[in-house]
Parts: sequence; C-alpha cells; structure tokens
Amino acid sequence: MKAFQLTAWGQPPEFREVAVPEPGPGQVLVKVAASGACHSDLHLMEWPAGMLPWPLPFTLGHETTGWVAALGAGVKGLEIGAPVAVYGPWGCGTCRSCRLGMENYCERSAEQPAAGGGLGYHGGMAEYMIVPSARLLVPLGDLDPVAAAPLGDAALTPYHAIKRALPLMTPGSTTAVIGVGGLGHMAVQILREVSATKVIAIDTDPAKLRLACDLGASRAVLADGDAAEQVRQATDGRGADVVLDFVGADATIALGAKVIRPQGQLTVVGIALGNFTFNFFSLPYEVALATTYWGSSVELLEVLELARAGRIKAHVETFALADAAEAYALLREGKISGRAVMVPNLVTSQLARPAARELQTVGAPRD
Ligand SMILES: NC(=O)c1ccc[n+]([C@@H]2O[C@H](COP(=O)([O-])OP(=O)(O)OC[C@H]3O[C@@H](n4cnc5c(N)ncnc54)[C@H](O)[C@@H]3O)[C@@H](O)[C@H]2O)c1
Ligand SMILES: [Zn+2]
Ligand SMILES: [Zn+2]
Repeated sequence: MKAFQLTAWGQPPEFREVAVPEPGPGQVLVKVAASGACHSDLHLMEWPAGMLPWPLPFTLGHETTGWVAALGAGVKGLEIGAPVAVYGPWGCGTCRSCRLGMENYCERSAEQPAAGGGLGYHGGMAEYMIVPSARLLVPLGDLDPVAAAPLGDAALTPYHAIKRALPLMTPGSTTAVIGVGGLGHMAVQILREVSATKVIAIDTDPAKLRLACDLGASRAVLADGDAAEQVRQATDGRGADVVLDFVGADATIALGAKVIRPQGQLTVVGIALGNFTFNFFSLPYEVALATTYWGSSVELLEVLELARAGRIKAHVETFALADAAEAYALLREGKISGRAVMVPNLVTSQLARPAARELQTVGAPRD
C-alpha cells in the first residue's frame, strides 16, 4: 500500500510503498476510512531534527476513522467491520492519567518512543494502520466515517479546552476564539452547543470569519491592528472572559493578553511557538494562562455524542489520499475551509473541489 510518510525532518513528506501491516498480539488493524490534515503536521514538516525524539519514517495522520480489519492475538470485544474512531494520543495505558482516559497527559510520556499514530508511530494516511490496543478505539456507530474523522482532534482538542473553562462561560460572558480554521470552526460550534457564552471569532481571513458566523459566532473581528479595541467595544469595555488561541503566535498571544478580563482564562492551543513575556503586570489580575494538549478518551466519547445528535459537524473538504501533498499545500496557504480529509479509496472524479485540485503551483506527488 502507499503511505504518506515523513521521512526526514525539515523535508516534505513523501509517498512510500509499504506492506500492509499485520497486527501483533493485542493490536488491531484498522482499514482507514479517512484521516484529517492538521496544522500540527505542517509544524512537524518544518521543525528541525532534534526537536522531537521520534523515529523516522512514520506515516502522517493523527485524526483517523475506519473499520476494524483484523485482530491480533488476544484482542476481544471488537467485531471485524465495526466502524471506529482512533483515539489519537497513545500513552502507556497503565499510569494514573491513562487510567483516567487522559492518555494525552500520560505520566510516562517521556519513556514512550512516540506520541501516537501519525505522531511518531504510523498514522492514518495510508490504506491501513495498526492501533496498538483496543482501548484506543471508540465505536463510531452510524456516524459518517469521512465526516467524523476531524472529531478526533479538530473537535476533541477544543472540546477539552472549552470544558475546563465552562464555569466562566455564563450567560452574559464572552469567549474570544482566535483562529477559526480546523480547530476553531469546531470550537465555535461546541461553544454554541455546550455553553451560554457569546462568541467573538477573530481571524486574518474574512472567509474563515464568515464560516464562523454561520456556525454560531455572534461577532467577527479581523485580526488587524484594531482587533483588541473591537473586542473591548463588543464587551462593553470589560474584555473577554475566556480567550481560546488556536494560533499561538507572538501576535495572537499578545492580542489575547490585551483582551482578557481580570480573572479570565487565556488558553493557548495553537503551536506556532510564539513567546509571551510574563511578569506581574503583563496580564490583568488573576488571569489564568494555560496551554492545553488534545483531550481524554472520555471527552472523545462526548464529542461523538454531540456529533451523533447532529449538534456539531465538521466542515470537510475531501481529498483522495494520493492528493495529500496538495491538501497540505492548500492548508499552508490558508485555502482549506474547515478541515481537509484524506480518503484512501476516493477516485478523482468524486473530489469536492475540482478548482483547488487544478492548482498548478503545488506539485503534489501522485501515485
Ligand atoms: N494543543 C493541541 O492539542 C493542538 C491540537 C491540534 C492542533 N494544534 C495547533 O493548533 C493550531 C491550529 O491548527 P488548525 O489545524 O486548526 O489550523 P488551521 O490552519 O486549520 O487554522 C488556523 C487558523 O488561524 C488563522 N490565523 C493564522 N494566523 C492568524 C493570526 N495571526 N491571527 C488570527 N488568525 C490567524 C488562519 O487564517 C486559520 O483560519 C496549529 O498551531 C496546530 O498545530 C494544537
Ligand atoms: Zn492535530
Ligand atoms: Zn500513561
């Protein structure tokens, strides 16, 4: 099978011919239905050697759905053909955090060779992937596996960041969502469904802002020099109770710090590795500044319930797996609306975006 792999740090990924893997004891072989392209993959492609301790090559794709294809020795409780979502952060499985379902915060993460499928282990941008344990699979039920792929990260990550801030999201409160792309467009919907907060969407791209307003944001602010003032005006001068920064650049953290109100929560989810100088006066009193990483497997169940009830829905642009490089190029250029999802067996004529596929500048490898 063809797998879209990161083969060298600082280099574009490439398609490599690999054998269909066989599940070892305790493992599960999943036939991939779809795997989403996350902006974190773009960071991975750019970061230099030494930044992450993972072995190369590995297949990209860390938000993946599919069907159980084969069971390794000793695996019980899964039926062949059952549709599943892969829970993405793979911890040791036995520490306290892992037992609580929070493998994203595994206490032994430093001892693990990698962080998850598509993050050091082989992920979902191939026809099949190995999942090391049945505990990392969640039943999809009747959800469309292609539309459900982004739920495992683009929805789960904001869901976790929102859940921990819920006590502040009372009627009359405001939440500023900075960056309404893959994660942010899900955040806007989750906020609409689980809280009473008013959402201000902030982005550099008017098209992303339009989508955010369609999905429930009550106000759109273009991220320019005037953005902080506009958020202040929209909150009667008080500022936002919660800021969710899905970019994490110098400029967005600085904007968040300018608009957060005293006792608010400023959460940085984006991994642009921006810096922020912290001192006694750099934030209003009692502001809690935090990063968050992904979410728990229990929260993934909750996200799937929201989707099953029709209350949240990823806006997906579907690509054949063979066009993965093109999809990532479009993501880098800011031209993906919602989330790009790679589908291994999609034929070209089924693609949703013929215009985008005709871009000559991208130079995607094709198999
Ligand atoms: N912490 C985690 O667990 C976690 C999980 C997944 C992704 N991420 C990170 O979250 C970030 C977003 O990922 P994504 O897949 O949603 O990316 P995306 O490319 O789909 O969306 C990013 C959005 O931010 C907007 N943007 C860019 N610069 C901006 C600026 N200066 N001000 C306002 N808006 C700006 C873009 O127009 C786009 O709409 C990435 O850094 C990614 O690595 C973190
Ligand atoms: Zn991701
Ligand atoms: Zn653990």
